[in-house]
Amino acid sequence: MARVLVVGGTGLAGRAIAGEAVGRGHDVVVASRRVPDDDSPAYVPGTVYATADLVTGDGLEEAVDGVDVLIDSSNGTGREASHTFMAGSQNLLHTAARFGVGHAVLLSIVNVDRSGYGYYRAKAAQERAYHDSPIESRIVRTTQFHDFLASMFASGARMGVIPAFTKVRFQTIAVADVARILLDAAEGSGPSNATRTVGGPRIQTSRALAEAWKAATGSRAVIAGVRQAGALGASWRAGENLAPDQAINGLDFEGWLNSTV
Ligand SMILES: NC(=O)c1ccc[n+]([C@@H]2O[C@H](COP(=O)([O-])OP(=O)(O)OC[C@H]3O[C@@H](n4cnc5c(N)ncnc54)[C@H](OP(=O)(O)O)[C@@H]3O)[C@@H](O)[C@H]2O)c1
Repeated sequence: MARVLVVGGTGLAGRAIAGEAVGRGHDVVVASRRVPDDDSPAYVPGTVYATADLVTGDGLEEAVDGVDVLIDSSNGTGREASHTFMAGSQNLLHTAARFGVGHAVLLSIVNVDRSGYGYYRAKAAQERAYHDSPIESRIVRTTQFHDFLASMFASGARMGVIPAFTKVRFQTIAVADVARILLDAAEGSGPSNATRTVGGPRIQTSRALAEAWKAATGSRAVIAGVRQAGALGASWRAGENLAPDQAINGLDFEGWLNSTV
C-alpha cells in the first residue's frame, strides 16, 4: 500500500483515479481548490481531502507531506489552463521534490506537442515540467474521453443541433480504463521517465458517435456536419487525436452509453 495523492481528484478523471486507488488498497489523498461535501457526486468514499491551489501554492505542502506517489489529473479552461498547467505544475513538482515524493504520474493527451492549439501548448509545457523534474515521472497520454464527446453532443443538442465534425474520427476511451492504466503506472508499471500512449478500443467517425449518442439518449436534435475551426480542428482532421497502434481492449462508446445514459 502506498500513500497516493490525486491532484485534481474531484474532477471527471480524478474521481475515477481516486476510486481506483482506494479499490487497490492505497491510502488516498485528493487535492483540489474546493473540497466536496460527503453527499456530493464528486465525493469518493475512503479518501482524505486536502484543499490546495496549484497556482498560488496554498495548501500544497500539507497535501504532499508523506506522499509516495502523486497522480496529476488537474485541468483548467481558457487562460486558467495555462496557469494551472505551467505555473501550477512547477509549484507542485518543486514542493513534491522538497517533501521527498518519489514518483509522479501525469495524465496527458495524445500528440499534444504537435498542435498549435493554445490549450495543447500549455499541456505540452506541463509535460516538459514532468520530464525535467527530479522526481521519477511517467506520462500517460490518452485519446479523448467518451464523456468529452457526450458533453459536446449534449451542449449542441440543447440548441437543437448535435455536431458531427466533418472529416474527423475519434478513438474515445472510458475514464475507468484510463484510471486503471494510471494506477498501473503509479505502481511502477512501464519504464520510468517515459511517455505511454493509450487509445480507446475503436476508431469511429464523429457522425457515427453522434448517431450512437442520439439513439442512446433519445434526443430529438438533428445531427449536422460542423467543421471544427482553428488549430484544434486541423489537429483532429490530421488524425493527431488517434492512437491506432495503442488501442486498448476496453469499454467502447456504445458500451459506455449503455452503462451511463
Ligand atoms: N477530456 C478529455 O477527453 C481528455 C483526454 C485526455 C486527457 N485529458 C486530461 O485529463 C485531465 C483531467 O481532465 P478532466 O476533464 O478530468 O478535468 P476536470 O473534470 O475539469 O477536473 C479538473 C480538476 O482539477 C482541479 N483543479 C483545477 N485547477 C486547480 C488548481 N489551481 N489547483 C488545484 N486543483 C485544481 C479541479 O478542482 P477545483 O476546481 O476545485 O480546484 C478538478 O478537481 C486534464 O489535464 C486533461 O487535459 C482529458
